[in-house]
Amino acid sequence: MRMKRFYADSLFLALTLLFAQVAVAWGQTDLTGYWKFSVPNGGVNFLEVKQTGGQIFVSGRSGMSQTPYGALQGDRLHLEIPSPFGPPDPKRVTVYDAVVKGDKFSATRKSPDEDVVAGTLERVTREEAFPARLPLPELRDLPDNGLARTPPMGWNSWNRFHDKFDDATVRRMADVMVSSGMRDAGYTYIIVDEGWSSYRDKNGNITGNARFPDMKALADYVHSKGLKIGIYSSPGPQVCGGYQGSYGHEEQDAKTFAEWGYDYLKYDWCSAFGIYQPTPADLEGAYQKMGEALAKTGRPIVYSLCEYGLGDVWTWGAKAGGNLWRTTFDIADTWASMERNGFSQLDIAQYPQPGHWNDPDMLEVGNGGMTGDEYRTHMSLWAMLRAPLIAGNDLRVMSDETKSILMNTEVIAIDQDPTAKPVQILSVDGKSEILVRPLEGNAVAVGLFNRGDDPAQISFRWDSLHLGAYLGGRTMTARDLWRHEAVPVAGDSFTATVPRHGVVLLRVEVGSFRFR
Ligand code: GLA
Repeated sequence: MRMKRFYADSLFLALTLLFAQVAVAWGQTDLTGYWKFSVPNGGVNFLEVKQTGGQIFVSGRSGMSQTPYGALQGDRLHLEIPSPFGPPDPKRVTVYDAVVKGDKFSATRKSPDEDVVAGTLERVTREEAFPARLPLPELRDLPDNGLARTPPMGWNSWNRFHDKFDDATVRRMADVMVSSGMRDAGYTYIIVDEGWSSYRDKNGNITGNARFPDMKALADYVHSKGLKIGIYSSPGPQVCGGYQGSYGHEEQDAKTFAEWGYDYLKYDWCSAFGIYQPTPADLEGAYQKMGEALAKTGRPIVYSLCEYGLGDVWTWGAKAGGNLWRTTFDIADTWASMERNGFSQLDIAQYPQPGHWNDPDMLEVGNGGMTGDEYRTHMSLWAMLRAPLIAGNDLRVMSDETKSILMNTEVIAIDQDPTAKPVQILSVDGKSEILVRPLEGNAVAVGLFNRGDDPAQISFRWDSLHLGAYLGGRTMTARDLWRHEAVPVAGDSFTATVPRHGVVLLRVEVGSFRFR
């Protein structure tokens, strides 16, 4: 009897649960379709959604997600969308929460790089979410614009501020670029990244948003400091955080940027993922289109391609008019990220040439996530690679150590050395790696990098540098570029104890004749 009762109860429970589920499924809104998330005075993001029962799938870079990114339970929507950039990382997710009510309702978004923001989720058409592909120009080699003969140097807002900055912040950075001595050390470009643009006016002209009310006045101010200024857009309709991009307005925007007086454009693929294919042909076509538009303005504008190294950009970036091109996904202020971005460049070290540079992303020096030794490795490695040196910290609050790294003019001279010979690996021994690069004159830069977690002794033989040392009575001299002192050249080899994640960077040269 008790057994029978148990079965009856279970059956009743199962039927109730089933009924409840069906009822939820019947009563529930179906979110399948296209949605726009917009933030007041901020960007917009589009989501393609497929709902199966209560589970929500979202379209990502490689099509619809295979596992659900969230759920709709009753009227509560919760989505967790992983970052499409870089290796999978459970910490890099964007979370949307909303109480669903019809086709337009309030929602919040929390992404790894921002606080919770309140916005609106609104149903839109497919065309609004993913506008049509535009015709791309026939591929051709654009003439070299003659700019960036050495790797560009400057400051960019993104690493430290993301889109939480304004006109006044940028002006202050220009002030400090001068007062700190950075301008004299070679830093030239103040680059306004994501967060300046707003909607288009009735003539289709792009405009600054409330935080950037007068982009021309900002350029004039930066120029008055003896600096140059950069701006940021995308071949897609939106830049990555959703602010206005240049899709369909490429020539118009290039003209606007030139009229405002901008000297540098960072052009970020972002929402172009939803419009073109990330194939070499589409990428090159989309970048060439803006390259042509910039050339047509007649203003010298450094062209920085940002498409994370897709389609082996280093093989065609110069043809599309690029002066520098990102070769990696975004850097983060961690040893692992910096190490990955930096050392991966050795495989493509033959591509940088005067006017056309591999860009493993901007500097994180001074942002607080790495040790002094790690930041010295960062700066030394970027210098050995001839990478652009674009500071990404808050220049107003630099410690003495940060200043000593960013303004080490001897290390900067390695980065800016005009000799177009690539960096090479001299030796790798476990986690110890020695890089060498020929410099102007009879000189080389030698970087002894310790990628390991413990201090390491690293050595090389002087004659492995092939400087013809001691030949013809000439002397070899060496200088430690972080200690700023001469290193004795004695015996057959040089040995240093290099701290964990640290570097010893030398400039070795064969000096003048010594007459006996
Ligand atoms: C991409 C770029 C970054 C930065 C952000 C802005 O992630 O790679 O350098 O410009 O977009 O959203």
